[in-house]
Parts: sequence; structure tokens; C-alpha cells
Amino acid sequence: MKVYKTVRGLQRQLDKERKNGKSIGFVPTMGALHAGHMSLIKKSTSQTDITVASVFVNPTQFNDKGDLKKYPRTLEKDAKMLADHGCAYLFAPSPKQVYPKGDQETIQLDISQLTQYMEGPNRPGHFEGVVQVVHRLLEIVVPDNLYMGQKDFQQFSIIAYMLKKLKLKTKLVVCDIMREEDGLAMSSRNVRLTKANRAKSPILFQTLSFVKKNQNKYKVKTLEKKALEMLDIRSFRPEYFSIVDGKTLAPVSDISKHKFVVACTAVWAGEVRLIDNMILK
Ligand code: PAJ
Repeated sequence: MKVYKTVRGLQRQLDKERKNGKSIGFVPTMGALHAGHMSLIKKSTSQTDITVASVFVNPTQFNDKGDLKKYPRTLEKDAKMLADHGCAYLFAPSPKQVYPKGDQETIQLDISQLTQYMEGPNRPGHFEGVVQVVHRLLEIVVPDNLYMGQKDFQQFSIIAYMLKKLKLKTKLVVCDIMREEDGLAMSSRNVRLTKANRAKSPILFQTLSFVKKNQNKYKVKTLEKKALEMLDIRSFRPEYFSIVDGKTLAPVSDISKHKFVVACTAVWAGEVRLIDNMILK
């Protein structure tokens, strides 16, 4: 696997690949890679000729600068893991490469419809930063396919909206949530959990599973209330538990009236913010 730090280097190589008729799959990440990320790499290598991954801790999507500082950085280990999984090229740029004109420059796209719920109000500016960086990375890589995880449900929904609105040719492929054996969704932030909180963190998966199982038994409001009670354990602080339409992300009041419904949650486990979701139907 070759590692590129500059846009020019990577683009030259990808132009060659394209001339040879190769299809390109792209997996954007912020590093500190785990088996969840690798499932995206595996999907990409099974569907395209060349897989490109990026590792870039994008400063513009961190509304909490402390979180940016504490974000784990393990580039060498990441590169080895990517190479072992058949990734052809790793793009690991500096902010200057990604944002040559400064990080204020961005595209014009109104995402307010999709950011008014869940993560949006709790992380102001976050999705604007995600849209900015993913758009820029797509401009650099120009992949046939883009691989993202269902783990970040609102994130992939917003990127799907961006691709559609801007009529970009890249196809989005959404991959399942990879979990630890006890149900905790894999995340780069999990390494920051204390031992005691790590032991309690399967409560997110258990709560989501409870809601899925009982979706026909209780009203939405009751389900959400019960879920918040389940998550409100010692040293955990639930931020939201929302049952929403899988397309519009708007809260639903009656599950039976919607085709695609998902339950999403964010919980502070001590100092670490965990998110998870489950498709109810
Ligand atoms: P990051 O958190 O590194 O995640 C990169 C990709 O891996 C995302 O598409 C995410 O949904 C997926 N992913 C994370 N955990 C997963 C799991 N347990 N199972 C399956 N997929 C998982 O998301 C970002 O980075 C950034 O916001 C980014 C899109 C790279 C823009 O900076």
C-alpha cells in the first residue's frame, strides 16, 4: 500500500488507475481504525478494483475543541491495518492540503432540514464540517463508490442528500454497524472509556434491542421514555433517544404510519460520548 500526503501525488496515481479502466472505492476516516472501519474496506475491495482510504482528523467538524485534541491518532498502526486488508492507497493529508484556501471555504448546501434533529442541535456546526470535508475529499479522489457506516446514521443520510442535491456521480454504499461481542458499537472513542464505563456500555445496544422488540407494544412516547430510563444509569447521561423516519430524520409519532423507522441515541459515558442506532423497520 502506498501512502500519499499530497493531493497531487494521489491524484496523479489515481489518474493512471482510471486510464487503465480501474474502478475506485473510497473510505474516508479519521483514523484510530478498528474492525468497523475494516468492514468498509472489505466491502470496497469486494466491489471495486482499487480501494483508497483517507485518514484525516477534520478540525472543522469538531464543535468541541477538547474532543479534537483528545481524538486518538495512530497513523502507523492504521496504515498497517489498511495494508493487511487490501487497501491500495492511503491518503493522509495535512489540513493545508485539504483546505489550501483556509478552512472557511466550503460549498453552498442547505442541510438545515436534516440537522435540526438529534446530533444537529447537540453538535452545532458538526455536519457542516462533515459535508465540507467529504465534499472536498470526493473532489480529490473522484471515486465510483463511497463507503460509509450505518453507525453514523445522520451522517450518511446527510451525505446521501449532498450527493443527490449536487448531482454527483459517486454512489454511496452504506455498511452495517460492527459491534463488540457484548453489543457495544465499535468506535474510535471506545478506547477512552474507563473500565467501569466500558463494562456498562452495552446498555445502548440492549436499550435499542428492547425498543425494537417492543415497538408494537407501546406508543412512541412511552418507548422513548422507557429507553431514556434504561440509559440513565450511574455515570451515564443520555442526551437523546429518538425514534425517527429513516428518510427525513423527523420524529415519528406512530411507527405503523412509516415504512422506514430508526431509533437513534447519544449517551455520555463519563467523558465519552457514545452514539448508536437500530433500524426498527
Ligand atoms: P470515523 O468516525 O473515522 O468513521 C469513518 C467511517 O467508519 C464512517 O462512515 C463510520 O460510519 C464508519 N464506522 C465507524 N464505526 C463503525 C462501526 N462500528 N461499524 C461500521 N462502520 C463504522 O465518520 C467519520 O470518521 C468522519 O465524520 C468522516 C466521514 C471521515 C469525515 O471526517
